[in-house]
Amino acid sequence: MKNDILELECIDITVDGQGVCRKDGLVVFVKEMIPGEKGLVKIIAEKKNCAYGIIDELTLSSPYRIKPDCPIAYKCGGCDYRYIAYDHQLVLKKRVLEATFRNMGLDVHVNDIIKCDDPYHYRNKVQVPVRDHKFGFYRKFSNDIVEFDTCYTETELANNIFNDVKKIIRQLRTDSYFRHILIKHAQGTGEVMLGLIVRDFKVPDIDKLVETITDTHDCIKSVILNKNDREDNVILGEEEKVLYGRNYIIDEFEGLRFRIAFKSFYQVNYQQMIKLYKLARDLAKPDKDTRLLDLYSGIGTISLFMAGYCREVTGVEIVKEAVDNAIENARMNSIDNAKFYLDDARADLSKYLIDKDVVIVDPPRKGLSEKLINSLIKSGINRVVYISCNPATLARDLVLLKDDYDFSEIHPVDMFPFTTHVECVALLKRIEQKVK
Ligand SMILES: C[S@@+](CC[C@H](N)C(=O)[O-])C[C@H]1O[C@@H](n2cnc3c(N)ncnc32)[C@H](O)[C@@H]1O
Repeated sequence: MKNDILELECIDITVDGQGVCRKDGLVVFVKEMIPGEKGLVKIIAEKKNCAYGIIDELTLSSPYRIKPDCPIAYKCGGCDYRYIAYDHQLVLKKRVLEATFRNMGLDVHVNDIIKCDDPYHYRNKVQVPVRDHKFGFYRKFSNDIVEFDTCYTETELANNIFNDVKKIIRQLRTDSYFRHILIKHAQGTGEVMLGLIVRDFKVPDIDKLVETITDTHDCIKSVILNKNDREDNVILGEEEKVLYGRNYIIDEFEGLRFRIAFKSFYQVNYQQMIKLYKLARDLAKPDKDTRLLDLYSGIGTISLFMAGYCREVTGVEIVKEAVDNAIENARMNSIDNAKFYLDDARADLSKYLIDKDVVIVDPPRKGLSEKLINSLIKSGINRVVYISCNPATLARDLVLLKDDYDFSEIHPVDMFPFTTHVECVALLKRIEQKVK
């Protein structure tokens, strides 16, 4: 079977963007094949129930296939859908979402995905590994570095700053001291944070690097040196120093200003973040009596955006820098009905749930813990808005909540154009007779 060439038609797409074909009962997953396409496929691996193939020749090409604009599109592991027209990416993502919920036995309507008006240069946070004298992204499933000058996903300013940092480090011949270059670009204010992740704090000529880059780019308001001497995949180390400016940058949206520290989470797509928060607000339907709990609150963006519509908001977050930012952000925006707590949202949060009317949860990819789900069910909270960056864990959690909460719609938001990822929001309304 391996190395055989089969004539196949692509009938579906997987969650990670592989084309799905069938031949005599065998499922063949084909890299970069779009549903509707036909062609000759070379089998590169065979398993018990399926095989994997690559396109040898397309005999019928999808009208949605485009020539990737990015020179490293097929090499870098960053964008899975660089060869598919943007509007069709949304059609495919919706189709995958429908299958995800259906396969979990959930009867929900998936709305059209809220698209990104400009799907290029949207990403405001960039992490570039430095290795073997190369600066670039990892090749998919590998530790090889693929170098680039322009990334069509990250913001143009981040590209420029990255290229200048790379040039200066090369001139100083100090690249072997660096592990990662990290750039955070606050698009509302234009401020930038540069993070330099190093094996050891002693880096020759680091002052020259900082002076040159901050002289060239006025927008850099913070340079952080972070030490990571671990040998695993974790990017950031514990210890850090401020080499220039402040230990945070400021962004703004909807008339609010936010401090973002080096280790604090911030949504990577600014234009879509604002749409996401407005959607969450419209589903939460807060009013002047609402006491809202924002779990996984980060730097308080959702809480403080909601505070103006609510009686009070409470945020819970596990990263100390983010909680400190959130408290300061409330003060900076003169918001006095918001409180923030450093706590683990996977633990039993009953104490925060008392007297709350609406809960917003926005967990990382692994979703909610059973403990939190049980506390929500016991609490009698009427309205839960679940924001998820991983449809698989959202579906898993909705199965656990479905006897106590009604939900009929999924509202997807495209935070990550040209990748297979998609953000989803679901409104859960308590089923009256089940109130315990
Ligand atoms: C997807 S982000 C959402 C943050 C925020 N809602 C926003 O829109 O910017 C998830 C947040 O959960 C935090 N987090 C991760 N695990 C947590 C836990 N066990 N308990 C509380 N917060 C946690 C992360 O630090 C991060 O700030």
